[in-house]
Amino acid sequence: MSQKKIIVSNRLPVTANRDEESGALEFKPSAGGLATGLSSIFKEKGNLWIGWPGIPDFKEDEKPGVIKSLRGENMAPVFLNKKEVLLYYEGFSNRTLWPLFHYFTEFTQYTPEDWDMYVAVNQKFCDAILEYAGPDDIIWVHDYQLLLLPSMLREKLPNATIGFFQHIPFPSYEIFRLLPWRSEILEGMLGADLLGFHTYDDTRHFMSSVSRIAGYPNSMGTIKMANRIISVDAFPMGIDYDKFEKAARSKETYEKVDKYKSLFANQQVVLSIDRLDYTKGIKRRLYAFDKFLEMYPEYIGKVVLVLLVVPSRDKVDQYQQLKEEIDTLVGKIDGKYSTIDWTPIQYFYRSFSFDGLSALYSKADVALITPLRDGMNLVCKEYVASKVTQKGVLILSEMAGAAKELSEAILINPNDEAEIVEALKQALEMPEIEQRNRLLEMQEKLKRYSVHRWVEVFVEELLNVKDRQAKMNIK
Ligand code: F6P
Repeated sequence: MSQKKIIVSNRLPVTANRDEESGALEFKPSAGGLATGLSSIFKEKGNLWIGWPGIPDFKEDEKPGVIKSLRGENMAPVFLNKKEVLLYYEGFSNRTLWPLFHYFTEFTQYTPEDWDMYVAVNQKFCDAILEYAGPDDIIWVHDYQLLLLPSMLREKLPNATIGFFQHIPFPSYEIFRLLPWRSEILEGMLGADLLGFHTYDDTRHFMSSVSRIAGYPNSMGTIKMANRIISVDAFPMGIDYDKFEKAARSKETYEKVDKYKSLFANQQVVLSIDRLDYTKGIKRRLYAFDKFLEMYPEYIGKVVLVLLVVPSRDKVDQYQQLKEEIDTLVGKIDGKYSTIDWTPIQYFYRSFSFDGLSALYSKADVALITPLRDGMNLVCKEYVASKVTQKGVLILSEMAGAAKELSEAILINPNDEAEIVEALKQALEMPEIEQRNRLLEMQEKLKRYSVHRWVEVFVEELLNVKDRQAKMNIK
């Protein structure tokens, strides 16, 4: 009997867009690393990716057509209405779990209506999966929007092989226990056979909550339940290394970089790229850049910060407020230091094409990546992979999961402004031989553990756990 593999995540690897004038629907593939990494699985015949197509307003009569065309590409949609998006996605996922798991307790809202909808939408995902899944299939659930799903699936498909991977941090017990629904969340996750996190620290935090809140004994990455064992481990997610390396060597990138060279003549470029999010530390980064120019005025006219902020979750109040604060701060800094022929910060609030990103990565002398808390952070890995000439310096926050692997970056505490200022100076003055040595070491690691390898390792381990369970004669 062949086992199907089903991937489940909040979003499908394509997003629907509706043309405002004609009302016509269009589906755009996601450029994210997860979609690329998992394509080796879901594009295989018989396999499937289940998720939300990204907009709430599908009309009843257009749903059958959407289902049919997505099925042709091995995808199945879970349609969410406006209220579900408001309470489950913007609400419990992004006003409760997101801030809490990133240690922003002051932003965390505990709203019973949001929780109820989170349960209901997780159940809706479960029902959608049950339409396709057989009793022995392999189901891989992704991320914090679907923490209850593993147990809901286990109840209906006791023999299924269920994996869960969390793409954001798992907080320490002292933070996690603040959540009124902490037991339900843990029990939901424990329906999986294998639970994966980006870092060893995340797994440790999770295990601590499992023993102190749920009361299940655990040791050496194994949790003992009444009738099953569950494995928990760290799987640091990689990138599609070859794609970034190849793009950096392409004619299109060279042409764009040449253009940038004349635009930024005699200036060093510091690059900052993030989704708009308070976890990314964009404001503190701007304060530090201001301080840098104040302390080292010899850099005025000689360095430019290219600040790329990608719009995100713009219906959530904290994101709207952050956007305004960044606008004001950029205006202040540009107003303070600009000269007739030089502006210290070039600010873009939009998405960039893949080619555009590749050229920026290639051109940038320094990447300044300073999240206050980040599950992994793939931008820093993409920057390193794009440095085919081995010229460039990565400044990276210790609070990003990626810092555990990229120890050759200049690691900083994002709350320490003076440290960021000195790191900038060090990066801008680093001898080329040192840049090269650091980049080569990091590139070696990222090449070896690409997103494709990450997928293979997770699935291998998931099957191993099932084998171990079978040998112990437990399910
Ligand atoms: O990093 C967590 C994550 O949910 C990713 O899975 C996703 O790509 C990103 O944040 C953006 O989030 P959203 O789906 O809310 O736009």
